[in-house]
Amino acid sequence: MALIERMIETIERSNEDEYSRKIGRVCRVVGLMIESNGPSAFVGERCLIHLPFGEPVEAEVVGFNEDRVLLMPYGETMQIAPGCLVKGTGRMLQVPVGEELIGQVLDGLGRPLSGETLSTGFRYDVQRKPPNPMNRPRILDALSTGVRMIDGLLTVGKGQRVGLFAGSGVGKSTLLGMIAKRSSADINVIALIGERGREVKEFIEKELGPEGMARSVVIVATSDQPPLVRLKGAYTATAIAEYFRDQGKEVVLMMDSVTRFAMAQREIGLATGEPPTSKGYTPSVFALLPQLLERSGTSANGSITAFYTVLVDGDDMNEPIADAVRGILDGHFVMDRSLANRGQFPAIHVLKSISRVMNQIATEPHREFAQTFRSWLATYLDAEDLINIGAYKKGTNPSIDTAIEMYPRLLTFLKQSIEEDADFEQTLKQLAEIARGE
Ligand SMILES: Nc1ncnc2c1ncn2[C@@H]1O[C@H](COP(=O)(O)OP(=O)(O)OP(=O)(O)O)[C@@H](O)[C@H]1O
Ligand SMILES: [Mg+2]
Repeated sequence: MALIERMIETIERSNEDEYSRKIGRVCRVVGLMIESNGPSAFVGERCLIHLPFGEPVEAEVVGFNEDRVLLMPYGETMQIAPGCLVKGTGRMLQVPVGEELIGQVLDGLGRPLSGETLSTGFRYDVQRKPPNPMNRPRILDALSTGVRMIDGLLTVGKGQRVGLFAGSGVGKSTLLGMIAKRSSADINVIALIGERGREVKEFIEKELGPEGMARSVVIVATSDQPPLVRLKGAYTATAIAEYFRDQGKEVVLMMDSVTRFAMAQREIGLATGEPPTSKGYTPSVFALLPQLLERSGTSANGSITAFYTVLVDGDDMNEPIADAVRGILDGHFVMDRSLANRGQFPAIHVLKSISRVMNQIATEPHREFAQTFRSWLATYLDAEDLINIGAYKKGTNPSIDTAIEMYPRLLTFLKQSIEEDADFEQTLKQLAEIARGE
């Protein structure tokens, strides 16, 4: 009898231990950082903080401070009090995935903003590993973006990852909207990270329109959201793009902007006590960037062609995030304010931009025509100041003469209004005609 009682006692005690390990209590809140005694959780684990009233707050373990758990909320820290119960869920954040997502606008954690619940069968972890590099097919086919200057002069391959470097107001959103509507991809996954709230509706209604929305999933984490949600927005979008790639689809992933993703991680890093390095960015920012950007691209099943916008203040391309991102991606398109000021849209500066896979996907004649086009443009722009002040005399230099003669046609090719369609074959034909001087 005594033996049985002892056994029961032992079991009860072990259950109690088990129970107490899974439960913690809030002991401190500083800014967005919540500290708790317990639970025994792992970094990245989703936890629930139970409040005296109402729904529990979702939070995630972001670190440890000696024996205390550091958590950051997906929501507000309002109403969190000392002693609130913290429960580990034993899981990382997951996002529902499925065809039902098409046409939806989701928050940073993958929940529809409309408030409805989606009945998707699958869930993906938002933070996943990139495909094994040995199983990634080479990029061999061009993606038709529907933007003439890109298809003709900066051809993008299916599965290529391009950085779009630009200051504010030079036409990034408009360009992304044009690609979303016109590209040959099966589906767009668009992440708006750290944008102003006002811009979201404008992008969805104006830039994307019903036509673009019908083949897009939009993920929104505005600037007023906690940094963790902005960070997760980027991961959620990437996980959704990965799901569609796993289904064999050709996906276009657009992230506006990866700079705001880096800023969100900087906020988290500084709050957890990381040392600031360049421009206040913490080391974890530079560790996470490649982990995020390597997930797009080709896989054995399909492809994710990605456009990541990078904010460059005062066109400073050597800013730390711009520098890091440029090194990871397979191309960078530089959007130039001086072109936008002249009304030359899309304001991509062809001569400052490069598509690192164009040589392996474009035909030999296509490459030659593009080269001819570039050299005329370069010659004209070099001599432009002289030409404008009337210091250049016709006949002095035959190549400048040709460039001046061709310039209006180059400009017509480069400019494309928001409504204008540009079919890939047609673009190549036009480029050939210009280069042959027909
Ligand atoms: N292809 C185009 N044709 C005509 N106008 C254009 C074109 N692209 C952009 N614009 C003009 O440029 C302006 C700024 O564009 P947009 O909002 O896309 O810039 P942005 O870089 O996304 O700005 P922000 O940094 O504020 O997000 C728009 O008002 C639009 O009228
Ligand atoms: Mg914009």
